[in-house]
This record gives sequence, C-alpha cells and structure tokens, in this order.
Amino acid sequence: MSLPEGVQRRSFDGRESLATRGPQVSEEPTVDGWRRWDPDRSKVGAMFEDGLEHGLEGGERVLYLGAASGTTVSHIADFAGPTYAVEFAPRPTRDLIEVAADRDRLFPLLKDARKPETYAHVVEPVEVLVQDVATRGQAEVALANRQFLEPDGRLLMAIKARSEDVTADPESVFEGVCETLSSGYEILDRGRLEPYHDDHLGVVATPRQ
Ligand SMILES: C[S@@+](CC[C@H](N)C(=O)[O-])C[C@H]1O[C@@H](n2cnc3c(N)ncnc32)[C@H](O)[C@@H]1O
Repeated sequence: MSLPEGVQRRSFDGRESLATRGPQVSEEPTVDGWRRWDPDRSKVGAMFEDGLEHGLEGGERVLYLGAASGTTVSHIADFAGPTYAVEFAPRPTRDLIEVAADRDRLFPLLKDARKPETYAHVVEPVEVLVQDVATRGQAEVALANRQFLEPDGRLLMAIKARSEDVTADPESVFEGVCETLSSGYEILDRGRLEPYHDDHLGVVATPRQ
C-alpha cells in the first residue's frame, strides 16, 4: 500500500520509521525537519504499517474524532488539508491547542463527537473522517458524523474491543460494531492493528449511497 504524499519512510538512529514534515511536538525524534511517526502511539500510523487500503493521497480535508493531545492528528495535519480535531476532555485539549498553534491547517474543537450538531456550523464537508474515540458506541459515533463526509470519502476508524465490552471475545465485538457500521457505510478493508495495538481493529469504509 502506498503512503499519502507527505508521508515518508525515514531513518531515525538507523531504524526506518514513518515520518511527516512539520513543527516538532515536545521531545519527539526529528531528522532534517522530519518527525518520527510512532505506530505504537497512533492507530492511523499502525493502519499504514499494517498495510490497510486507506486510500489517502495527501491534501484531503479531514475531520478527526478523539484527537486527545494531538499525537496523531498533528502528523495528519502535516500532510492533509484543513484538519478539524474534535476532543471533549479539557486536559488533552490544552495540549492539542499548543500543537495547533504551530500549524495553520489544524483546528481544535472542544466538542463531544456524539453531538455533531454542536460543530456542524464550523466543519466543512471532508474527504476523510478519522475516528479514534475508544469509547462504547464507536459505530454510532461514526454514523452520527457521516453527514460531514463526501459521498466518495473515506472513514478510517479504530475499534477498541475493550471499550465496547471488557469481557467479550474481541472478534465478536468487532463483528457487532462492523454490523452496526454497515447500516451507513460500506466496509472496504479491515485488519487487526497488532503488533502495535492489542485487540484493536482498523476499518476503512465509505458512505453507503
Ligand atoms: C485513544 S484516545 C485518542 C488518541 C489519539 N487519537 C491519538 O492517536 O493521538 C481517545 C480520545 O477520545 C476522546 N473521546 C472519547 N469520547 C469522545 C467523544 N464523545 N467526543 C470527543 N472526544 C472523545 C477521549 O477523551 C480520548 O482523548
């Protein structure tokens, strides 16, 4: 699977890694302006490493749900177009705002992704919707935000099994979430995010017409 324009494999201390070019975030490793993108700390990074058919080319408008302190969305904003980052917890949002201060294409929104009507007046139609909220009801959040996605757009979603049910077999959780998701999306590719993230499924989907 090819990488989007603006994402490269670069050498950091002799080890190959994904990298994007942009302002450094805290103490992360950088070489010649390229920032190491650690798949152990990023579900989207793991999707790229695990070869999911993500369909991203670079330059797309992005809505990112569950931005936390901005680890992954900062890399995405390095190679994407306008990137709207939704996070509802105030503490990580403070860090996210700092990360965005250096990036003119990254727009943090302190909002609840289950209430898209609270940011619908700000977010334009996007070509890519990324979801990493890691809470119960992950399919429902993706369905509620489908309205922002262009008809031929891509959903990149990480499903964390334990967020839905700590005791259930992860595979049966993934089946249930994908079945709910299928009411509004056609699933194009899916794959476990091991060895980077245990009991997570990566899903690439497009809105069902
Ligand atoms: C697994 S972390 C995200 C990590 C981040 N995507 C990254 O790779 O850098 C999940 C985040 O989703 C946020 N979250 C959970 N439910 C949310 C909701 N309904 N609306 C907005 N953010 C939510 C949590 O506060 C948490 O920061």
